[in-house]
Amino acid sequence: MDVREVRDYGELSRAAAALLLEWVADFSSPSIVLPTGNTPLGCYAALAADPRARALTGARLIQLDEYHGIARDDPRNLAEWLMRALLRPLAIPAARLQRFDSSAGNAAAEAARMEEIVEAIGIDVAILGLGPNGHIGFNEPGSIFDSPTRLIELTPESIRSNAAYWGEGRVPPFAFSLGLGTLARARRTLLLVSGERKADILAETLNGPISPTVPATYLRALSGAVVIADQLALRKWRGGRG
Ligand code: PGA
Repeated sequence: MDVREVRDYGELSRAAAALLLEWVADFSSPSIVLPTGNTPLGCYAALAADPRARALTGARLIQLDEYHGIARDDPRNLAEWLMRALLRPLAIPAARLQRFDSSAGNAAAEAARMEEIVEAIGIDVAILGLGPNGHIGFNEPGSIFDSPTRLIELTPESIRSNAAYWGEGRVPPFAFSLGLGTLARARRTLLLVSGERKADILAETLNGPISPTVPATYLRALSGAVVIADQLALRKWRGGRG
């Protein structure tokens, strides 16, 4: 994997925005998978401040993951988070975002609907964050590498880490996620990792056995995935350092 070490979170955010803009320039109407979480927020802010990011107004955006069992206008709705963090600041019309219906009654049908959309559009660029338990999207440990888009029960660890966004007892227990098999078909993939709290899981992702136990290791089976990580996150990485 192409691991790019940057000094700190500010540098990570600028480097991620620059690489995304470089990549999308190769496509006429790029389709981009977008994550939520704290990690990509600096990248989104950098894009919002960059006039070149106007190129994204013609992009087709795809939501990586979404809670299930909450209203579409619930403050915890992750599509709304993307709207606040990226689409509104860049004046990208809401219709450009392919989003999960967090209130869908038939979750299996909703997951299949999104899988079909992604299959039809394809993924030019996938931007991803890394969960403290190695999840990608909400592909929790044990997710097989050819898993499709589906509804997933969150692990206690993901519920704990997501409580940082909404408070204890406020994290929905189920979520939709694009599958690892779905994401593996992306033409380009960028993983963003920041901070000491991710150092152990990033070292496992980069150096440990390739296995569904750490879902993010699916990235090592892809050709050409890029990781941008800051020094604190790479503190325990052994790659490239003898
Ligand atoms: P974070 O979340 O960006 O807030 O660290 C990442 C994740 O849990 O996937």
